[in-house]
Amino acid sequence: MSETLDWILKRRSIRVYADAPVTDEQVETLLRAAMAAPSANDVRPWAFVVVRDAERREALAKIHQWSHMCAKAPVVIVVLGNPEASLHWVEDCSAATENLLLAAAGLNLGAVWVAIYPHADCEAGVRQLLEIPERFRVLCLVPVGQPAETKSPRTRYEASKVHVETFGNRD
Ligand SMILES: Cc1cc2nc3c(=O)[nH]c(=O)nc-3n(C[C@H](O)[C@H](O)[C@H](O)COP(=O)(O)O)c2cc1C
Repeated sequence: MSETLDWILKRRSIRVYADAPVTDEQVETLLRAAMAAPSANDVRPWAFVVVRDAERREALAKIHQWSHMCAKAPVVIVVLGNPEASLHWVEDCSAATENLLLAAAGLNLGAVWVAIYPHADCEAGVRQLLEIPERFRVLCLVPVGQPAETKSPRTRYEASKVHVETFGNRD
């Protein structure tokens, strides 16, 4: 249990990457973790686009002000969800994304969740760039690389956010 918790706390948003590759095998491991996520009615409404092409990554880096990491990461995994398949696509695809981020931490890779949903203009840009069909929504981008910054594991436990039996009760 403590090893699992250590791993969860080790996951941090890593935005600086070394000039070193991420292998196809590592990408597959990340996607296996993502697709092991819980899913409402087990519909698994997700799809993923693995982007390695430098020009496409540079375009993704310009999608918004906080997506610049996509240019330097050797691979960007784009997480898509199909709302026609499930009302819970956001939750399912978010769980998949967290699994992917945890797996990256476990492989000593650096990664970060870059928001696309619910920003319609950003989504339109990604859709056009990656030729994503209309039935899919774009949840987020996950640039992945060999980390070139270190961040300490941490919890940000706040007792004030925990209520016992009824809201506002602390005893
Ligand atoms: C829904 C969501 C959207 C996020 N979008 C971005 C983003 O666009 N760019 C970015 O650099 N980080 C983004 N992050 C990462 C957060 O900034 C980060 O998780 C937070 O600062 C806590 O740091 P930690 O992940 O190292 O614990 C996002 C995280 C979530 C959950």
